[in-house]
Amino acid sequence: MKIKIKTKLPGPKSLNLLKRLKKLNGSNSVPYPYFHSKEGEGCYFKDIEGNIFLDFASQIASNPLGYNHPNLSKVVERYAKRSPIKYAGQDFPVKEHLDLLEELMTITPKGMDSAFFINSGAEAVENAMKISIRNKNNVEFGVCFHGSFHGRSLAALSFVTSKQIYTKGYGLKIPSRILPFNETAGDELLKVLNQEGSSKIGFVIMEAVQGEGGYNVAKHKMIKDIRKITKQYKIPFICDEVQAGMGRTGKWWAIDNYNVKPDVMSSAKALQVAATISNKKNFPNEEGAISSTWGGGHIIDLAMGLEIIKTIKKDGLLSRNKKNGDYLRKRLVEIEENIPVISNVRGLGLMNAFDLKTVKLRNDVVVECFKNGLVLLSCGGSGIRLIPPYIVGKSEIDESLDVIKKAVEDCSVKGFKHKGNICDFMSCLKEQ
Ligand SMILES: Cc1ncc(COP(=O)(O)O)c(C=O)c1O
Repeated sequence: MKIKIKTKLPGPKSLNLLKRLKKLNGSNSVPYPYFHSKEGEGCYFKDIEGNIFLDFASQIASNPLGYNHPNLSKVVERYAKRSPIKYAGQDFPVKEHLDLLEELMTITPKGMDSAFFINSGAEAVENAMKISIRNKNNVEFGVCFHGSFHGRSLAALSFVTSKQIYTKGYGLKIPSRILPFNETAGDELLKVLNQEGSSKIGFVIMEAVQGEGGYNVAKHKMIKDIRKITKQYKIPFICDEVQAGMGRTGKWWAIDNYNVKPDVMSSAKALQVAATISNKKNFPNEEGAISSTWGGGHIIDLAMGLEIIKTIKKDGLLSRNKKNGDYLRKRLVEIEENIPVISNVRGLGLMNAFDLKTVKLRNDVVVECFKNGLVLLSCGGSGIRLIPPYIVGKSEIDESLDVIKKAVEDCSVKGFKHKGNICDFMSCLKEQ
């Protein structure tokens, strides 16, 4: 497949559906203005009008193997005649639950020998926090970092600092202290410890590569310092691997790039189900202290997660992600050298980003790329993230960069403004 846009965007069928969706959808999110069809191949998908897009957003890193991957299509076929497909899996077990648990344990850091499956990244984070603070009566707050994103449920958003829109209006939150996401973080944590004492700190939660907050890659010193201090004072160190985990950075877990082992991890997205992962001794002994009706119960999700891990192993996708990520960043740096409004190329593996000079230019470029068939996402202040599926190759990377380069040039012309129906849906990408 190749990019092919043959209608105005959104196309007429999508426009009609989008209007109906907007009326009823309580989240008021700003969806991409198209509807997926079932057709697609590799990094490309067709919308319901037959337009072909190149996907460098991977549904916010949750679609690691792209469209209609044969291994995953086989999984779906296997379950075609089975119902129900969803079980109250913590209480009424299915074999797929056990299979994924066993496979997941082959890729978790040493000593992390147990996991609890739930439904969403935010739930994985919440349960990571819950098992960290359980039975510690003096705990008063948790520690997070500037630029953090851990989800939108109430406890998770208490530790979100990436954007105000997520936390605005919620006066009632779990108390937090916020550390800088840089090499001074260790010193700042020590200051908190000296002022408050270690028993008040429930946990330190970190993304080794920040997602929503800007695809910022933690420096080695920062992570080493934080790990050393949390170990010394017996403060649980939670790594949120919801976006960066499961191979995207070229290692199974972003934290593996630092040769550091956390106490607890959260995973979701690429795994297809969410998981709180830790040593068995860190989970409650009492039956039912943590659980969820649908936890570990959607058998296609579980089987997909299993097949994704196996495919990553079989096809050597970790080293492929590193190699293609290095190539993508090298090409981005070349572009940065020639286009002054582009700066701060950064990333690890297939998790990469760059900044544009202003937020308006960034938003215009995301829209312009979309109009030219490339799906991207913004991040941080004025950043654009590139998150292709793991099966991406050089040709798709080159194609994406050609679209980006042209879009930046076109949008940089004085007085540039998008027009038409698209502006009702994404012109300013207000929520992003
Ligand atoms: C690092 C991180 N943690 C947690 C979440 C929340 O995951 P979910 O949207 O599945 O609740 C996200 C979602 O983007 C994320 O990127």
